[in-house]
Amino acid sequence: MRLRDLKLTNYRNCEDLELNLDSNKILIIGKNAQGKTNILESIYILSALKSPRTANNVELINFNSEAAEINANLLKSNTDIELDYYYSREKKRELRLNKVKTTPKNFKTVLKTVLFSTADLLLLRGNPSDRRDWLDRAISQIYPAYDDRLSKYDKIRIQKNNLLKEYLKTGSSNDTLLDVYNEQLVIAGSNIIYLRKKFLKEIERIASEKHRIISETEALKIEYDCGFLNGESELEDIANAFKLSLEERKQEELRRGQSCVGPHRDDIIFYINGNEATKFASQGQQRTVVLALKLSELDIIADKAGDEPILLLDDVLAELDDIRQNYLLKSINSNTQTIITSVDTILFEEEFLKDVKIYKIEDGHIL
Ligand SMILES: Nc1ncnc2c1ncn2[C@@H]1O[C@H](COP(=O)(O)OP(=O)(O)OP(=O)(O)O)[C@@H](O)[C@H]1O
Ligand SMILES: [Mg+2]
Repeated sequence: MRLRDLKLTNYRNCEDLELNLDSNKILIIGKNAQGKTNILESIYILSALKSPRTANNVELINFNSEAAEINANLLKSNTDIELDYYYSREKKRELRLNKVKTTPKNFKTVLKTVLFSTADLLLLRGNPSDRRDWLDRAISQIYPAYDDRLSKYDKIRIQKNNLLKEYLKTGSSNDTLLDVYNEQLVIAGSNIIYLRKKFLKEIERIASEKHRIISETEALKIEYDCGFLNGESELEDIANAFKLSLEERKQEELRRGQSCVGPHRDDIIFYINGNEATKFASQGQQRTVVLALKLSELDIIADKAGDEPILLLDDVLAELDDIRQNYLLKSINSNTQTIITSVDTILFEEEFLKDVKIYKIEDGHIL
């Protein structure tokens, strides 16, 4: 998969920006606050329909404008595809695929991306929700139906929470309705847990190998942390354990007025040589884990989705030491279109820069 052109109109500080991306390696150089991250964010939005930086898409619109637009041409399996994204201050969104209006679901299946930014380097230190978001995003690029399951699960959970809150207020509970919600949560939730565990097993297999190479000796283990599971990995067993846990904790949920068990509470634990990385690993060791994870995510998506995703590297090289920088740059497969942002070219070897298309950005304009 390869992006060919990108056009931003009134998108953040890029009022009118055109970028020819017809190259495998692209480097965008610019001082701080010129629009480098904005460009990568706009590409990410075309693939995920949400920003990695904000949940409020109005922020994407240039301060002086009424609507933002992102237009891109890409080549996928030898076919030219055009994607158009429009978002207005009235929160009206319009998505076009080859100039024809389309649904979010259809739109999202086109472009696959793996974004690796400095914020990702904090994945291990961050909140469980950051780790779940990373996992969910990776899985949904492989199984587009996964997104539906997540939204279904969330919808039922919100309804159940409303019911639980109602109980807190009135003291009377609609037990039948609560049981119905719990049944639905078990169906949607076990599926989510099943796929998350399956994906993590796969990523552990690939990432532990990469991790061993970068660190020379260390062993990486990844565990899905779900309070009610004891090693179960079959869908039916997960469903039974989830059901049992919901029954056991029903009184607690009523008392607290919130859903206390389920995949919205789960986490991922990383171990280096048997020690929990969040607690014991140095900053460099944690970065190695994230680097191995991101590169493995790229491999898995390329393999399962049948097309190389686009790799977006936002300023990460500056944060890695020589060994990790080299490993990252050498691991990038020549088929993977890679768009890198950096403050200057100093970090890159002459050899690497030979095949790279370099752009300079200033105040939202390509020079
Ligand atoms: N809605 C908006 N309208 C206009 N300008 C905006 C909007 N949102 C963000 N900006 C501005 O865009 C500029 C560029 O932001 P961006 O994050 O892309 O910088 P950057 O080049 O990645 O810088 P850094 O090297 O510091 O990461 C910032 O000055 C920011 O204030
Ligand atoms: Mg930036």
